[in-house]
Amino acid sequence: MITSISLNPSIDRTLTVESFTPGGLNRVLSSGDVAAGKGINVALTVSALGLNAECVGFMYRDSAPLFEKRLMVNSTAYDFIWLDGAARTNIKVLDQSAGVVTELNESGREIDAESLKRMTELVCAHADNSDYLILTGSMPPGCPDDYYATLIDAVAGLGCRCVLDADGERLRKGLEAEPFMIKPNRYELETMTGRHLASISEIRDAARHYIDRGVEVVAVSLGADGAIILRGDEALYAPKLSVEVKSTVGAGDSMVAGLIAGFMAENDLEETFRMGMACATARCMTEGYHIVDRTLYRAVMDMVKIERI
Ligand SMILES: Nc1ncnc2c1ncn2[C@@H]1O[C@H](COP(=O)(O)OP(=O)(O)OP(=O)(O)O)[C@@H](O)[C@H]1O
Ligand SMILES: [Mg+2]
Repeated sequence: MITSISLNPSIDRTLTVESFTPGGLNRVLSSGDVAAGKGINVALTVSALGLNAECVGFMYRDSAPLFEKRLMVNSTAYDFIWLDGAARTNIKVLDQSAGVVTELNESGREIDAESLKRMTELVCAHADNSDYLILTGSMPPGCPDDYYATLIDAVAGLGCRCVLDADGERLRKGLEAEPFMIKPNRYELETMTGRHLASISEIRDAARHYIDRGVEVVAVSLGADGAIILRGDEALYAPKLSVEVKSTVGAGDSMVAGLIAGFMAENDLEETFRMGMACATARCMTEGYHIVDRTLYRAVMDMVKIERI
């Protein structure tokens, strides 16, 4: 079982306008809501790859139908702590003529200490039957930056490996609990190291630092430039694949899902990395919020080129 934690779910609302005018009246051509958030995205993508996945987290009663429907349709189990009100909304305004998206993200509702305590207990109960615990995305207000570290420490000894995909202080503090894997993007790695990383060898050396600190696998996604991965003395680079990109929403989440599928199959690092790259690339080739299609994912797997660095 793969357990994905969703502390701050969001309704992603896309509003399409002909041409966006700040301060003006913008007529919306079409709109759509999708139940999202990184924890939800990873669980759905892991399920789409054919593995057993569950989503554990906070959920809001007023938004239940949207989230429950998406999870059920995609055969993804869930166990939520239910709270009053609605999930936050992240608005994406798509300017059709410029092909540019403007994002307006809400922070989420304040979480109290009692709810956090209940969440830690719920996560431990699931981690006990899980192979991988995925800690990804933002946290709601009231949730301390070291909460991912708290969860990693709480599940230590239960036999599940922790994967951390977070940014800023949440990543920095979470690292102190020594997760099995981290997957920063270039910006997140640069923020953590405090340096601009210009070349693949600089990125590799910066990532190596976290291996030396006790993280077993460090994957760094580089957007349109591909990705690198390190484990022990091994370091691999996959240049990006030239494909028609339709949407990069959740590309990093899909890389995490593909890598987990590789670890679950007990593949070597190269094959695992191939699966992570293929899943992320297949996601980019897919329209909007549609979940990765397994046939496309398998086809892309043959296209991935991997070099030792
Ligand atoms: N424009 C692109 N063209 C080809 N592949 C891409 C592109 N953008 C992303 N990818 C693929 O997706 C992977 C993950 O993308 P990226 O580094 O942007 O993740 P991220 O910043 O963590 O994304 P997220 O928004 O999901 O957190 C990349 O390593 C690459 O394989
Ligand atoms: Mg990311």
